[in-house]
This record gives sequence, structure tokens and C-alpha cells, in this order.
Amino acid sequence: MQMLKEAILEKGKAINQDVLLVDSFLNHQVDVKLMQQVGEAFAAYFKDRGITRVITIESSGIAPASFTALAMGLPLVIMKKQTSRIMTGDLLQTTVRSFTKGTSYELTIKREFLVPGEKVLFIDDFLASGEAAFGMLRLAKEAGIEVAGIGIVIEKAFQAGHDRLIGEGIDVYSLARVKSMSENHIEFVD
Ligand code: G4P
Repeated sequence: MQMLKEAILEKGKAINQDVLLVDSFLNHQVDVKLMQQVGEAFAAYFKDRGITRVITIESSGIAPASFTALAMGLPLVIMKKQTSRIMTGDLLQTTVRSFTKGTSYELTIKREFLVPGEKVLFIDDFLASGEAAFGMLRLAKEAGIEVAGIGIVIEKAFQAGHDRLIGEGIDVYSLARVKSMSENHIEFVD
């Protein structure tokens, strides 16, 4: 997606070969016009597949997932990274480890928002090694729902996530695929 690639080149900053800072337009300050285009691109790609819900993980997935849900006319469900005293009822949980951040969290969702037999579209801001997506897939399987596809805003194609998900038969659609990067250079997959 051209507008996204331009934003990455103009405003993104690779702090090393592995981590791309995009906090001026994606995950701290949000360029909502760009997110609207992102949502429309996902809606166009995943249309006519019988998808009934869009799901994402807090926090940086929320902006692109919201615009996708709006463009598709569907409800959005946000998976949580921690529980609280007011989050009660039948919860589905799985541990997700983030290699980029060196942390782990309990990915949590109320069972009532994953209705058996439904088809969901998962949207996230980054795909690196795919741990978050695999956590979502574990919960989807436990709930008895089908994941119709995964939409990613920025994929780090040099990491394993994409191939791992494709290997599971998942349709992964990434709007920008970064092939390699260094401090002054970002290259995309054609
Ligand atoms: P994975 O799910 O694909 O395995 O990714 P990984 O664990 O390596 O990274 C998970 C967290 O790190 C996610 O944020 C993801 O957005 C973020 N991340 C991964 N690579 C990059 C990168 O190159 N740049 C930036 N800015 N973030 C990256 P999170 O922990 O879910 O936090 P949040 O921002 O959504 O709250």
C-alpha cells in the first residue's frame, strides 16, 4: 500500500536491524487518515468471506482494527493483555511471549465474544515472530471459531511470523512487508 510505505520511509525510524519506530503515525500518535485507508484496504481484500467479527489485541492493533471494522460494518473485539477485578465470567486465556519486548502476558478474551461457528478477521499493527497471532489462534480454536484471515499493517518479512502462519494454512495479508532495514535504510519486499 503506497501511502503506508511512504509514511514508513518518511516518518519511520529503524533503530537497529530489528526494530522499526513508527510512533508518529501508528502506535503512539495515530494518522487517522492513513488508518482509514488501511481499514479500507483490509476490507477490500477480505470482503465476501462471511466474516462476522474483527478482533485485535490491545493496544496498537486497535486503531487499524477499528477502521477495518468500520469499513466492513462489523463489530470489533479487543483481546486484553491482563485481567482486572471487573473482568469476570467465562474467560479464555493463553500466555504470549514477546521476543521483541522481552515480556510475556496473558492474552484474555471473554468467551461470549468468540461465538462458536463464527468467522473472524484478526488485525494487528506488527507481525514479527507471530507469537501474538499464534496466541489468538489458540484461543480461537478453544472457542470453536474459524479465523478467516490475518491483516497486518507492517510485517517484518525477515522474521519468522509470516512463514509460520502460512504453514498453518492461514491467509496473511500484510500492507507493507519490510525486507530488511538498518539505521538509514528500509527496503520493502516487492
Ligand atoms: P510477534 O507477536 O509477531 O511474535 O511479535 P513480538 O512478540 O516480537 O512483538 C510483540 C510486540 O512488539 C507487539 O507490541 C508489536 O507491535 C511490537 N513490535 C514488534 N516489532 C516491532 C517493531 O519493529 N517496531 C515496533 N514499534 N513495535 C514492534 P505489543 O507488546 O503488543 O504492544 P502494543 O504496542 O500493541 O501495546
